Amino acid sequence: MIITTCSTKGGVGKTTLTANLAGLLADAGYRTLVIDADIQPTLSSYYPIESRAAHGLYQLVTTGAIDDTISQTTIDSLDIVISDDPDGNLDNWILHSPDGRIRMRRALTGLDAYDFVLVDTQGAIGPLQDLGVLAADILISPIPPEILSAREFARGTLAMLERLQPMQHMGAPVGHLYGLCYRMDRTVDARNVADTLRRATFGDSRGAITILDTVIPATVAYREAATARTPVHQWERRRDSQATPAARETMLQLVNELLPHAEVGCEADMPRATRPAIRHGQP
Ligand SMILES: Nc1ncnc2c1ncn2[C@@H]1O[C@H](COP(=O)(O)OP(=O)(O)OP(=O)(O)O)[C@@H](O)[C@H]1O
Ligand SMILES: [Mg+2]
Repeated sequence: MIITTCSTKGGVGKTTLTANLAGLLADAGYRTLVIDADIQPTLSSYYPIESRAAHGLYQLVTTGAIDDTISQTTIDSLDIVISDDPDGNLDNWILHSPDGRIRMRRALTGLDAYDFVLVDTQGAIGPLQDLGVLAADILISPIPPEILSAREFARGTLAMLERLQPMQHMGAPVGHLYGLCYRMDRTVDARNVADTLRRATFGDSRGAITILDTVIPATVAYREAATARTPVHQWERRRDSQATPAARETMLQLVNELLPHAEVGCEADMPRATRPAIRHGQP
């Protein structure tokens, strides 16, 4: 299953979410690949690299072959295709290639070495973002519950989905989009914005969008875990405060809601997954 994290707004939490989701799935025993499809290679250095491949995203997109692009992280079962396009040439390349936007989807088709592929994208509209979105079976979009981010979700992200709908004729249907209230604080305003999002009908896109019940709180654990280059579910296993759940609990809740077919344990020492068959294309 290919999961792409996307938003037309920058700084909403895409990279942090992708890294932590991937870290949890890998820790549960799923063979997991992350692809850094952002020109700013934040995800590429999120976890330490144990063995670096000769190539990365540029080769994957331009040749359509994934060979020699997969690096290994120090986390068991977690590999990565790093972003290696500092001059931003890929956008132009994709734009001028007739099948440019579906290159990643094609390269990942039939890749059976992984249970999950997670793609992080740039927080701005462009060919590279389209490439990541069109590769996905499902999309997840973090939405900080403040009015400007919620409006951008309702306007920009949904407009992007509608613009890409015709790509289904090229064999690239746009996946179901899950909105995730992200970096939620405990203000009344945040709660109001989250409630408004849940009630919204999203115009023509209704039915293609679900706002998840899980919310990711704004806590320092996510920043600390990023600094320690560790998945947040390992960094914050429990928490004294009753008001905010520990990051481990939150991330488990998210995976169980987003990927009900996946088996990740809820016990203190999460058992390895039994690796049930993940049905391709099924949210
Ligand atoms: N749950 C959280 N609570 C508090 N801070 C968080 C949380 N998740 C992420 N952050 C912080 O929010 C900031 C933005 O996160 P991140 O880099 O993941 O966003 P992004 O959408 O990938 O940004 P960009 O569009 O620039 O790629 C970072 O400083 C990160 O540490
Ligand atoms: Mg990012």
